[in-house]
Amino acid sequence: MSKRIVLLGAPGSGKGTQGQMLMERRGIPQISTGDLLRAAVAAGSDLGLKAKAAMDAGELVADEVVIGMIRERLNEADTANGYILDGFPRTRAQAEALDSLLVDLGKPLDRVVHLEVDEEEIVKRLLERGRSDDTEDTIRNRMKVFRDQTHPLLEYYSERGLLVTVKGSGDLEAIYSSIVEALDA
Ligand code: AP5
Repeated sequence: MSKRIVLLGAPGSGKGTQGQMLMERRGIPQISTGDLLRAAVAAGSDLGLKAKAAMDAGELVADEVVIGMIRERLNEADTANGYILDGFPRTRAQAEALDSLLVDLGKPLDRVVHLEVDEEEIVKRLLERGRSDDTEDTIRNRMKVFRDQTHPLLEYYSERGLLVTVKGSGDLEAIYSSIVEALDA
């Protein structure tokens, strides 16, 4: 059974939704860099102040900031039996940093699940949700950032034999079942 999991997908592809379902049903923590960053912004911490402008514009927060957050988080005790990374890694530098961190911990990734959803459906979903970074311009920029910086990770993980792609549109339970099937194959 896969326990150390990355959920990879465009903004609005359902990483948060499916990550939450996995956490509740498999009893392993969901670690969302977006949620960690939003909490830092809400708390007004130095890290939050640094992150806010990038998040508002739909750009990525600096690699060293998110890598530092993940390094701390993966050293916490509740990750000993696995975790779901939601929204990390998003760049090649982040993927390489994660690899070397997991070598140090002696616990490599088991699976990377790519949630694939049509771009127009994503725009519709996010406009309906209406988070502060869910304006049409910011969504389009987040999509572009995904294509330019995160999409190349599909090849990175495919070459390492870790990647599975799951259709991320339609019924939530059906998507969840496809993910679990891919994780347990
Ligand atoms: P983050 O919070 O990760 O946002 P995101 O990737 O844009 O992802 P979303 O939360 O919008 O979507 P999701 O895929 O989780 O989908 P969800 O389940 O919510 O990042 C925000 C910002 O933080 C980034 O832009 C960046 O600035 C920064 N950041 C974060 N991580 C970073 C990193 N590693 N490096 C650098 N910067 C980083 O679903 C979306 C909506 O669709 C919801 O309303 C949901 O109810 C709905 N929905 C879900 N599934 C379905 C379905 N099957 N059918 C219909 N609706 C559905």
